[in-house]
Amino acid sequence: MKITLSVLKADIGSIGGHITPSQALLNKVNNFIKENGKDLIIDYFISHTGDDVAILCTHERGKLDEKIHKLAWEAFLAGTDTAKKQGLYGAGQDLLKEAFSGNIKGMGPAVAELEFDERPNEPFLFFAADKTEPGAYNLPFYLSFSDPMYCAGLTLSPKMNKGFTFHIMDAEYTEKDKVIELSSPEEIYDIAALLRDNERYVIESIYSRNTGNQAVASSTTRLHNIAGKYTGKDDPVSLVRVQGEFPATGEVLSPYQIGHFVAGFMRGSHTGPLMPCKQNTTISYFDGPPVVTGAAFCVREGKLTEPADVFDHPFWDHVRNKISEKAADIRRQGFSGAAMLPYKELEYGGIVERLEKLDKKFKFRD
Ligand code: F6R
Ligand code: MG
Ligand code: MG
Repeated sequence: MKITLSVLKADIGSIGGHITPSQALLNKVNNFIKENGKDLIIDYFISHTGDDVAILCTHERGKLDEKIHKLAWEAFLAGTDTAKKQGLYGAGQDLLKEAFSGNIKGMGPAVAELEFDERPNEPFLFFAADKTEPGAYNLPFYLSFSDPMYCAGLTLSPKMNKGFTFHIMDAEYTEKDKVIELSSPEEIYDIAALLRDNERYVIESIYSRNTGNQAVASSTTRLHNIAGKYTGKDDPVSLVRVQGEFPATGEVLSPYQIGHFVAGFMRGSHTGPLMPCKQNTTISYFDGPPVVTGAAFCVREGKLTEPADVFDHPFWDHVRNKISEKAADIRRQGFSGAAMLPYKELEYGGIVERLEKLDKKFKFRD
C-alpha cells in the first residue's frame, strides 16, 4: 500500500512565555482533526515539543495535498482561538498569512512529508526540535547517513553499501526552491562544506542509492524569509524511515549524544547545545536549551502504533547531564563572541537601531 506520512507543526501559543502549549489548546487541535479529518486521513498523532504543536497524520493523498494541509491550517486556527481565550503567549504566532492558498508551505508552519510503498514492516522516527532552526539536523543526519563512525550499517549492511543522496536546500534564496543533490560517499567533502553553514544550507531529504527510496524528509521553513523579519525560531520537524535499506534506529539516534551547538536558545539569538529530551519535556533554562524529541512508530496500512519515546532511557540521562554542563559553560560568557549569534541571525532588530545610534557618536581621529 502506498501511504503518505505528513507532519505539520506550528507555535500557536504557549503557557508562561515560550514554554508549552496548554492542555486545552492540544485538546482543541486533537478534536478538530478527529472531527474534520474523518474522510481524509487514516490515522494521526498530536504532540508538542516545547511550545510547538505537531500534527502527524497518515493518508493516501500524496505530498503537498491541499486538503490535508488545509485541515492542519484550520486545526491551528482553532487552536489559536483557544490560545487567545486563555491569554496564552504568542497566540497564532507562526500563522503568518491571512488566507490559506494551496498548501501550508510558505505560510509559517513547518512541514515534512514522506510518500512510500509500505514494507511488510515499516518503522520510522518522528523528530521535533524547539528553540532552534532547520539546520540543527544537518550534523546528525550527515553522521547517520555518511559516517561509518556513527552508522555501522554503512560498512556492515549490503543493503546500504551504495550510500545515500542528500538533497540540500539553500534556505537564503527566497524566490523559489534552490536545491543541490550530492551523494555520499563520493561527495562527502562537498556535503560537509555546505552543511557546516546551518543557517543557510539545510538537508531537505535523503535517498537510498541502493533502492532510490526516500529515507528522510525535513522541514526547511525559515520564518524570517516569509515575514521579512524574525517572528520566532523555525523549530524544525523531520521524518526518518529506518532499518533495512536505511540506518537502524540506534544509528539515527547515535549523533544526538554529541549535544552539538546550534542556533536558537534565548530569544532565538544565541548558541546552545541540542539536548535530546523525553516527549512532553517543557522549556526552561535561558528559554532552552534547544531541545529535540523523538518518537518511534511502526505503520501498517496507514495505522500507527503507539509511539515509543526514543530518548526515554537511562543512557540519555547521562547525555542530558553532560549537555546541561555544556549549556551552562557557554552561557557563562553571556553576550560575548560565539555565545550570541551574528547580527543577521538575531531575532530582534533593536540591536541594529542601538548600533546605528552609537555609530553617530563615534569621532574620527587622524
Ligand atoms: C521559539 C521561541 C523563540 C522566540 C523568541 C522571541 O519557539 O519561542 O525563538 O520566538 O524568544 O520571543 P518574543 O516574541 O517573546 O520576543
Ligand atoms: Mg516559540
Ligand atoms: Mg517553538
